[in-house]
Amino acid sequence: MVDQQAELSWTEDRIPVSDRFDDPYFSLENGLAETRHVFLAGNSLPERFRPGFHIAELGFGTGLNMLTAWAAWEGAGMTGPLRFTSFEAYPMAPGDMARALAAFPELGPWAERFLKAWTGARCDLGTLQLDVVQGDARQTLPEWTGRADAWFLDGFSPAKNPELWQEDLLTHVANRTAPGGTVATYTAAGFVRRGLEAAGFAVTRVQGYGRKRHMTQGVLP
Ligand SMILES: C[S@@+](CC[C@H](N)C(=O)[O-])C[C@H]1O[C@@H](n2cnc3c(N)ncnc32)[C@H](O)[C@@H]1O
Repeated sequence: MVDQQAELSWTEDRIPVSDRFDDPYFSLENGLAETRHVFLAGNSLPERFRPGFHIAELGFGTGLNMLTAWAAWEGAGMTGPLRFTSFEAYPMAPGDMARALAAFPELGPWAERFLKAWTGARCDLGTLQLDVVQGDARQTLPEWTGRADAWFLDGFSPAKNPELWQEDLLTHVANRTAPGGTVATYTAAGFVRRGLEAAGFAVTRVQGYGRKRHMTQGVLP
């Protein structure tokens, strides 16, 4: 069990910043648009959605990525559950999640349904089966027996949170990816790209969001 909670400060624009990692939880420009560009389009979603689709994520944070994916899933007319597993070492208090998510009124209906049901580990909301695995992903991911069709790699910046980007963790990501499955991340850091390649992904550097020139996509052959 984890007894460490996220410790936050807030910018004037109401963006949460981690005190531990000295890094914002999402883009200072437009978190929702960045999530759509990097994690949805980066994994060819919603086009690849099909019944039983499973997304996994490193770093649950505010739940913004999950809510964006869930809204896209329902928007694509999917009626069964989207499976979403996220690995999180320092869970955010629900009140802080609510405060952060209030910046995205477009996601309001999904945030409300999620926050009503959220007790901190698992919830089943009909079209969403969410599992947040608490603990350091370096310990919890190797023990995970699931298999994801798409991964959202969303640690804090590799310079500030290098443990979430190291090659052996990326190898565990590859081991827990379905054949033909994908990864996407906002970073184009060379050591992350090389780590994904060493893990077995075919890696491409593509256009990033906003001020970030590049981001990274990978496919498991
Ligand atoms: C950029 S934030 C994620 C933002 C999130 N995806 C969202 O939609 O709000 C990075 C997250 O990684 C988590 N984290 C950092 N190191 C970790 C580790 N070793 N294991 C698991 N989670 C970690 C942080 O606590 C933080 O919530």
